[in-house]
Amino acid sequence: MKITSKQLRQQWLSFYESKGHVNVGAVSLIGDGSTGVMFNVAGMQPLMPYLLGKKHPLGKRLCNVQGCVRTVDIDSVGDASHFTFFEMMGNWSLGDYFKKEKTAWTFELLTKVFGLDKDKLCVTVFEGNESAPRDEQTAELLKGLGIDKSRVFYLPKSDNWWELEGTVGTPCGPDNEWFYPLDDSKANPVFPDDYVEIGNDVYMQYKKTETGYIPLENKNVDTGFGFDRMLLFLNGLSDGYKTDLFSSVISYLEKVSGKKYDDGGEAQKAMRIIADHTRTTVMLIGDEQGILPSNTGAGYILRRLMRRAIRYCRQLELNGDAMLGAASIFINEVYGEAYPLLKEKEGYILDEIKKEADRFEATLAQGIKEFEKCVTSLERKNEFMSKSNPAYVKETVIGGKQAFRLYDTYGFPLELTEELAAERGLSVDKKGFDEAFLEHREKSRVLAAGQFKGGLESHSEAATRYHTATHLLNAALKIVCSPDIQQKGSNINEERLRFDFNFSRKLTDKEVAEVERLVNEQIKNNVPVVMKEMSLESAREGGFVGVFDSKYGDTVKTYSIGEFSKEICGGPHVKSTGELGTFKIAKQENVSAGIKRIKAILQ
Ligand code: ALA
Repeated sequence: MKITSKQLRQQWLSFYESKGHVNVGAVSLIGDGSTGVMFNVAGMQPLMPYLLGKKHPLGKRLCNVQGCVRTVDIDSVGDASHFTFFEMMGNWSLGDYFKKEKTAWTFELLTKVFGLDKDKLCVTVFEGNESAPRDEQTAELLKGLGIDKSRVFYLPKSDNWWELEGTVGTPCGPDNEWFYPLDDSKANPVFPDDYVEIGNDVYMQYKKTETGYIPLENKNVDTGFGFDRMLLFLNGLSDGYKTDLFSSVISYLEKVSGKKYDDGGEAQKAMRIIADHTRTTVMLIGDEQGILPSNTGAGYILRRLMRRAIRYCRQLELNGDAMLGAASIFINEVYGEAYPLLKEKEGYILDEIKKEADRFEATLAQGIKEFEKCVTSLERKNEFMSKSNPAYVKETVIGGKQAFRLYDTYGFPLELTEELAAERGLSVDKKGFDEAFLEHREKSRVLAAGQFKGGLESHSEAATRYHTATHLLNAALKIVCSPDIQQKGSNINEERLRFDFNFSRKLTDKEVAEVERLVNEQIKNNVPVVMKEMSLESAREGGFVGVFDSKYGDTVKTYSIGEFSKEICGGPHVKSTGELGTFKIAKQENVSAGIKRIKAILQ
């Protein structure tokens, strides 16, 4: 390697520090919700309020290397250049310096620090439109630095204007983009085909509104250079998995699978997907606002990534443990220094990967069998119909209901079914999937409402939290007081839970404190609440507690909170225990001989 990832990180930060910038460090990958963008997709995103005029406590010149997650083309990961996580080297002027300094510094960094040849650089600038003028000023400055005018190109808004897609109220503006020939040795590279974009400087001086662009009071600069891409490029490489960010993980995957990355083909694709998705998994679970796999929002994206990686582990004849091995290399060898939180959270991250892998692997083989059945029945139908009618057009779509069954019973994210279908030249009825999804949700609501009449009075968010807290309380009482404890009654409203159980005396202060501690420990660990439908028989065998009563019907819903609590129940429950707040026992009462009552609150 001509330059390592650690060196590049350092060079970027030192250079801008030498120009008076403060390194603000990387922040959470999870968007704050203000723009509706789920993950940070650019280094500027966390700095949005400051680019709009708020005063930053660390001054007007900032820099960092910020992680970003872009999941628009998860399906393209597997080639040499698509990744779901990457870092962006950034620096900002918050109403401080502008074009003159910016062009000079980017030029200095590229030519002096990174050693690029000024006569090979190409730069594009904004050609102007009704919102903002043609950027002659930047073009002149670039020429003044010694870049020949034949290498400065004026391009329209589609190329040289930067804004956060799909948002309003966000800062934006024209930019100039820096390009360099991919193959440095080529005699006459043709722009832009033979060039690679290495980064851009955005002159953020407008705010995007519903109807157009209005000037900002401050003229800002927002620079973003792709860290991973720069590393690749400076090392003269073209395969993103060959840099030191990935090389040890790829070697590890080669070792455990006995396959060679350089042989290409399916094994290479699988290694890339496992490596990329594991890295993003580590970053998302290990983030300061860490998320866990779930069936909604960001958690669902994480689940998709994890399950896709596990499926590709199977293709290499490995199980989810390969993800653990890769994760631990990312944490300890590659990113631990720049992201110390990953090291602190290592045990937790590996644990959560293991849990998700176990959950998925338990149903994966069966799910794939089920999928094959769908394909076979489609093929049979096509064969049969074609025989009786030669003009029959073969069906190539897997039904939405079938896809939903794979999702609901076997935990297959829709995209996984789509991917399996595509491998067989088929597609999936997405609309039908959505319909089945809604129908199912409606049914469960009605069912839950019926089952908990008198017990669970409302399905508000607060009541949902209390319902999950009731499970934790039930489990904790079994540990602290007696394994024979059983729920004898429950009532929940917005403000508190009430739980009746068989016990001969009131709990001592020490027992109360211990029950609270156990429940709050589960809350602190943010354990996912996992729902599974199964036969009453399997629930009994699986050690689930609850009323084994025919009113539940043949299949029951079970809820597990790790190994701590396993109950048969109609729900509703929170996604994971972190949503509960702090649990406190407010009161104990006598109900009757042998039955005690606890009232508890969540603060
Ligand atoms: N915000 C600019 C980008 O993401 C720098 O490319």
